[in-house]
Amino acid sequence: MNSPQENILSRRTIYRFMDKEVSDMIITQALKAASCAPCHKQTHPWRFYSIGENTRKSLIPLITKLARIKSEKKGSNSVDEDIVRAVSKIQDAPVLFAITSKLSPEDSFREREDYAATVCALHNMVLSFWANGVGSLWSTGSVTRDDETYHKLGINKQQEEIIGFVRAGYPISTPDVWKPSYEEVTTYLD
Ligand SMILES: Cc1cc2nc3c(=O)[nH]c(=O)nc-3n(C[C@H](O)[C@H](O)[C@H](O)COP(=O)(O)O)c2cc1C
Repeated sequence: MNSPQENILSRRTIYRFMDKEVSDMIITQALKAASCAPCHKQTHPWRFYSIGENTRKSLIPLITKLARIKSEKKGSNSVDEDIVRAVSKIQDAPVLFAITSKLSPEDSFREREDYAATVCALHNMVLSFWANGVGSLWSTGSVTRDDETYHKLGINKQQEEIIGFVRAGYPISTPDVWKPSYEEVTTYLD
């Protein structure tokens, strides 16, 4: 296994996955890592929804509708292919999670801190997967924000916000992504 530093530096978002199952052990490790994230005031605001076959199927009409709208809006001449691709992203992902963060409508600072903590949890999950050779993609596409998704997943929109879906699986390829050097983003004050 890579050192923690190597694991962080080598992680990339993975967009295409092999048709290969990810073991329950690896998924459990990722959930443990996520649950261990820091949070202010011990609020533990994160929840993980593992999205199985039937729930994925129930999302197909919505994904189809949203993909058609997006495709037609950008003037695509391959609307049907765009829809097939959008459905496949959800249906064929070896692992699919929705991650939510607790809402606090009466306390915007708490909600912001809880969102930050849930981002830490999500990234712990991503890094744990990566340490086991499993790549992932955090997505915030329209399906993750639609009321119908909340309904199909049984999530109360007044209490929790879906901060994204995480799709995970063994990478087909790992993109090379430019990153600014730390010098460019660091200011040393005396
Ligand atoms: C908050 C957030 C939302 C993202 N949403 C999407 C998304 O909807 N679709 C997508 O393809 N990638 C999404 N990404 C992945 C980013 O595009 C990716 O992290 C970025 O290109 C940098 O690449 P890297 O993760 O390999 O460093 C998201 C990432 C973050 C942090």
